[in-house]
Amino acid sequence: ENNQLKDIIAHAKEYGFVYPSSEIYDGLQAVYDYGPYGVELKNNLKKLWWESMTRLHENIVGIDAAIFMHPTTWKASGHVDSFNDPMVDNKDSKKRYRADVLIEEKAAQFENAGDTDRAKSLLSAMARLMEAEDFAALRDLLINENISCPISGTTNWTDIRQFNLMFSTQVGSVADESSTIYLRPETAQGIFVNFLNVQKTARMKVPFGIAQIGKAFRNEIVARQFIFRMREFEQMEMQFFVRPGTELDWYKTWAEARLNWHKALGIPTEKLRRHDHEKLAHYANAALDIEYEFPFGYKEVEGIHSRTDFDLKSHQEYSKKKQQYFDPEINQNYIPYVIETSIGADRLFLMTLCNAYVEEEVDGKQRTYLKLHPAVAPVKAAILPLTKKDGLPEKAREIVEALKYDFNIIYEDAASIGKRYTRQDLIGTPFCIAVDHQTLEDNTVTIRHRDTTEQERVSISELHVRLTAACSF
Ligand code: GAP
Repeated sequence: ENNQLKDIIAHAKEYGFVYPSSEIYDGLQAVYDYGPYGVELKNNLKKLWWESMTRLHENIVGIDAAIFMHPTTWKASGHVDSFNDPMVDNKDSKKRYRADVLIEEKAAQFENAGDTDRAKSLLSAMARLMEAEDFAALRDLLINENISCPISGTTNWTDIRQFNLMFSTQVGSVADESSTIYLRPETAQGIFVNFLNVQKTARMKVPFGIAQIGKAFRNEIVARQFIFRMREFEQMEMQFFVRPGTELDWYKTWAEARLNWHKALGIPTEKLRRHDHEKLAHYANAALDIEYEFPFGYKEVEGIHSRTDFDLKSHQEYSKKKQQYFDPEINQNYIPYVIETSIGADRLFLMTLCNAYVEEEVDGKQRTYLKLHPAVAPVKAAILPLTKKDGLPEKAREIVEALKYDFNIIYEDAASIGKRYTRQDLIGTPFCIAVDHQTLEDNTVTIRHRDTTEQERVSISELHVRLTAACSF
């Protein structure tokens, strides 16, 4: 199965989707760059999310907060004191791991071998020890369960230490304690600290939401699985502010809405799973993950959390500024409760890519293509003159001119038509439009459909309408 991931990583690099960061210097672990087709696909996914949140909901508005925030923000949010991972080193290989991830992987092995009870009891033992911060016992659990280092194969573990995931840097020229600031580890806090600004200036009434897309940074200890877990990544978060007591109804509504959104994107139901959290963070009264079956197993793509009034209350306490809303319907002041939907743009990208990647054999020939929904495909159509002479390139260019203001279009006249089709399949272009001699006579072209490879003859005047219909979500 991991071969499938390897194929996808190689494909992403070869065809301009994702490159390792600063590759000429051998890359930087857990940091990646998006190439020409990658940036289009990612922008399309972000746009879809943004529009389905803000444009389709009268009561959700967007913001774009800064990455740097006042350092007290992260005291109030709990990140300074408790945004830690339990880190452990293997004394033989000198490799560093997250103890909880090693245990989760062992539990997954039990699960795959059909021993669900053992998997569950291992996970609940781990959750108990993490909650109690009993790291000596957590290390004993590693040893007793015979969890070994994948490199050295030994269980010779150091003590487990807490490792804070926030990156820090200095503002100004004097490096002292007071000038230390953090790169935000989540975008959510930019929304919380702007809650009243937005509520007042956009004249919002509870229930309402604030959506944001932006970079977040975490010094992840375990950096594996391509763009699944990165040190610099992008989040798309929405905080929905509700009247206290109504939060669990809204939690249910948003969980369903988000799951349906993934299905509408073309992710098959059987590849999606809802994972309800049994153990809840101290600020949450309900939480679930939407998981997708990646080539390396079911993993979280999106989190839905009922965060109570924890964040706003804490900001009120630290900032000494009231974070209350006056609800005219019930004539009361209160700190709203919050339902959060939080999805990583890069994980959504990886899920989309994994789901779209198709290798199939047709008439004894291998064909690879990306079965992307036309709404998210990087290029919507390739305009291909059959030959480079007889006025066909000029005719093809006319079609490009007519379409390029509304769609991302490619013009290509090199190589055989078959090779050009193959190339478009590899980047997931849903339509190839061939211009031939008949086009000059009757203004019709051939549309070749990516998924079926079927071809049909249509009039040039129909192309815009066809593309519009296909590319709508
Ligand atoms: N505000 C809540 C929050 O940040 P989270 O579960 O820590 O919750 C939310 O993160 C989402 O952000 C995850 O579901 C995942 O899609 C994405 N994410 C988190 N850490 C990531 C990382 N290191 N690399 C890529 N995506 C990440």
